[in-house]
Amino acid sequence: MPPEPTVKANFRFRCIACGDLRDHASQNFRCAHCGDLLEIVYPNWQAQAGTCGAGLDASDLKLTWKQRRLSSATADLSGVWRFRDMLPTLGEGHDAVTLREGNTPLYEMPACAGIAGVPRLFAKHQGMNPTGSFKDTGMTVAASFAHQAGYRWVACASTGNTSASMAAYAARAGMRSLVLVPEGKISWSKLSQALDYGAVTCQLRTDFDGCLRLLQEIVQQAPVYQLNSINPFRLEGQKTLALELLEQFDWQSPDHIIMPGGNLGNSSAIGKALLEMRDLGLISRLPKLSIIQAEGANALLRTLREAGGKRLISVQAETRATAIRIGNPASWKKAVHVLEATGGVCEQVSEIEIAQAKAEIGAEGIGCEPASAVTFAGLKKLVKQGFVKAEETVVLVLTGNLLKDPDYTMDFHRGEMFKGIPLQETAALGPLRRAPIVLDATLGAVIQTLERAEKAEVDGQRG
Ligand code: F0G
Repeated sequence: MPPEPTVKANFRFRCIACGDLRDHASQNFRCAHCGDLLEIVYPNWQAQAGTCGAGLDASDLKLTWKQRRLSSATADLSGVWRFRDMLPTLGEGHDAVTLREGNTPLYEMPACAGIAGVPRLFAKHQGMNPTGSFKDTGMTVAASFAHQAGYRWVACASTGNTSASMAAYAARAGMRSLVLVPEGKISWSKLSQALDYGAVTCQLRTDFDGCLRLLQEIVQQAPVYQLNSINPFRLEGQKTLALELLEQFDWQSPDHIIMPGGNLGNSSAIGKALLEMRDLGLISRLPKLSIIQAEGANALLRTLREAGGKRLISVQAETRATAIRIGNPASWKKAVHVLEATGGVCEQVSEIEIAQAKAEIGAEGIGCEPASAVTFAGLKKLVKQGFVKAEETVVLVLTGNLLKDPDYTMDFHRGEMFKGIPLQETAALGPLRRAPIVLDATLGAVIQTLERAEKAEVDGQRG
């Protein structure tokens, strides 16, 4: 087993259920007492309004983070490590494994705002990370700690994005990676990334939940370090999305942050960040964090509605948004806590609503993968329900790049998706479809197509 680091760490592991505090985490990142999940805490931070125990106050931190943007030091070029004051510290002589993750754009979305009926709508686009998803922000931290601990192998179960990210960061650090993915249920783009980055990639005849279960057994038997979001270092890195977002808003909180929910690590991370920022005096008001799930993978929604958030109701997950095709989310308790603490809600959206929302985000020149589009589909529902008010500012977290799932996009535009479903149910999708047009290579054919498209547009505007 790799040696424990000898340096005195700035963090400890705390069990989310019984509160047991330890300096070291076990191989499966579960509490030695009660078996629940661990989170990282920072004993030196005093939760006094406006100050933190490291001797910096909130305005000093904000200034430091701003100044680091002018620096060309490797850690400062990372949108994650620029916020290292709120992250676990690596030991002396250990550098972060980084691909310049984070630093993702915040886009205003006026067309989607008009559709949803809110005045100010933004997309925080985590698909603009080095491997095309939000996973990189967590992976840089967890892979750095795996490397520091001397592991030769890292491993994860994945619906695709975690494996792509893990494989890249492992390769950068000279570690080997083992990927477990559900056979036939992840996009080729994501699978091909893992292959190219050199992972040993196993397509298992099961679903994501089966892959994750097996991984738990593997880490007990073999000296591999697990990089799923059960690993609390991942969530610390993913927290920086919230720091970067609030910095982009000049530390004035938006009213709502809306996120997709799968294994529920990311929403837990963002919720943790918001609560820490409030406790440290970095923000004075908490945004409401809401989580949207696909109807066919709605374990959190059912857990809240049918069990009051007290016990997990697992589901047999099915959705074409394969990134969130998860029925037994590991971080459900953490997610319930952040919904309660921030006043957010959980909602579900149908496959048709997801496809429509994805096309609308694409038509705004932004684009995302299907799992990210649940946020916009969910927002439309939350506005109709009156939970999001007409004057409120909303941020959608787009978790993955449009290029992550080209099969989905092609099926949609070619009209192959939802075949056999009554036309009136998919009527809203028609105007959004842009099937490729095969033509003879003649001037006349292209000009005629252009004129037809222009006429269709004008007719559409006339209604
Ligand atoms: N969006 C995308 C694009 C994802 O890849 C995932 C999760 C989520 C949302 C949900 O995030 O699990 O933290 O609630 N993908 C994981 C994977 C499970 O293996 O790539 P979550």
